[in-house]
Amino acid sequence: MSNLRFPENFLWGAATAAYQIEGAARDDGRGPSIWDTFSRTPGKVHQGHTGDVACDHYHRYADDVALMAELGLRAYRFSVAWPRIQPDGAGPVNPRGLDFYDRLVDTLLDRGIDPIVTLYHWDLPQALGDRGGWTNRETAEHFATYATAVHARLGDRVGTWTTLNEPWCSAYLGYGNGVHAPGEQDPAAAFTAVHHLLLGHGLAARALRAAGAETIGITLNPADVRPADPASAADAAAVRLVDGLHNRIFLDPLLAGGYPEDVLEHVGGIVEPSFVRDGDEKLIAAPIDLLGINYYQPTYVAGRPGGAGGGGAYPGTEGAVEFLPPVGPLTDMGWMIEPAGLTRLLERIATDYPGVPLLITENGAAFPDKAGMDGPGGAGGVVDTDRIAYLDGHLRAAHEAIARGVDLRGYLVWSLLDNFEWAEGYRKRFGIVHVDYLTQRRTPKASARWYQEVISRNGL
Ligand code: NOJ
Repeated sequence: MSNLRFPENFLWGAATAAYQIEGAARDDGRGPSIWDTFSRTPGKVHQGHTGDVACDHYHRYADDVALMAELGLRAYRFSVAWPRIQPDGAGPVNPRGLDFYDRLVDTLLDRGIDPIVTLYHWDLPQALGDRGGWTNRETAEHFATYATAVHARLGDRVGTWTTLNEPWCSAYLGYGNGVHAPGEQDPAAAFTAVHHLLLGHGLAARALRAAGAETIGITLNPADVRPADPASAADAAAVRLVDGLHNRIFLDPLLAGGYPEDVLEHVGGIVEPSFVRDGDEKLIAAPIDLLGINYYQPTYVAGRPGGAGGGGAYPGTEGAVEFLPPVGPLTDMGWMIEPAGLTRLLERIATDYPGVPLLITENGAAFPDKAGMDGPGGAGGVVDTDRIAYLDGHLRAAHEAIARGVDLRGYLVWSLLDNFEWAEGYRKRFGIVHVDYLTQRRTPKASARWYQEVISRNGL
């Protein structure tokens, strides 16, 4: 199984997100975001960690880009912090916020690294949060204005634009089960947010297209939903329901012209979907050039009357669906390790939604990385063989999908650096580069050196 080669021009890279690495929460006119607020709300984030300092990437970006170059990355996916660009979400553009991304893009290009911009990775300006966030239709319109402003500054140098990162998380974790900002627990709000996020994507995609953006896409975290018992009709029905709420509710309007009937019916049992207005589905179906896929683990479900369901993360599944506990070996997030799920997922999307090139915009794993590595002088190197095995397995799975005909253009590891893992704070480490938060020292882990080798050989 060694000597696997990837297609020529396969895009190798790494991904990060603004709030998770930048820090500099008050620099150069940045306004507050819903994550600044949420992380300060007692009990929401592990030990009250915040993104105030994070990896201080805002001040250390040049060194970080040098490190990317050393590792041989061809692409770097980062997100733009909306509250740096429009501190009030809808007000005038703050040029100093744009200056940072301008410098970052130039530095990447100097090193021959392709910048891939994510316009929204969850840090909604608090001012928009105060007006209902994604439950307010106006947020979708503001998003398109913001996207246009960023493109106006960076569009001459950035070719690849993705609108949203994982709108499933923004909607269901933000408004359904409250695990993410803004922390609401209201199934009706979750579905309203799904629609407005998609509408925001559609409006932004249209605006980016009109402005001449080269490649436009969106990143989803589609789930590989599996039945507990492949022979059970009840389990198959549970798969269909969960697949509808997690996958088809996004994929169908984006790539198949509109919401699926069964999903609308399910949503209609929870909230009157009057937020879907005439013409919205057409806007959401604006053509895209690339679909970003984030994959970490599969989801196993069973159809069970009285089942616990998925709570606000899967509204309306209570009493009908049981989500199976993950089976080991697990990552530090408690997530299952099943590379075959990635092959299945890529094939399924390529089959059901043909014609859109795919890019793995995230894949990776948190592992404890051995205590004692933190602190001055402690960063002697992390030998993360578990992470190497995870990445190796998933790259083989991606290769298998390509062999089966999937148009997969590249792979971006999550993440370049250890960083702020949302509700888990800094305790979960996804980086291929270790960050000592006391000194901000970066030390490539064994996985980084391994990845460097993979890139240089274009294969395993
Ligand atoms: C998905 C998200 O996009 C990213 O922000 C997060 O850190 C990783 N998954 C790991 O949970």
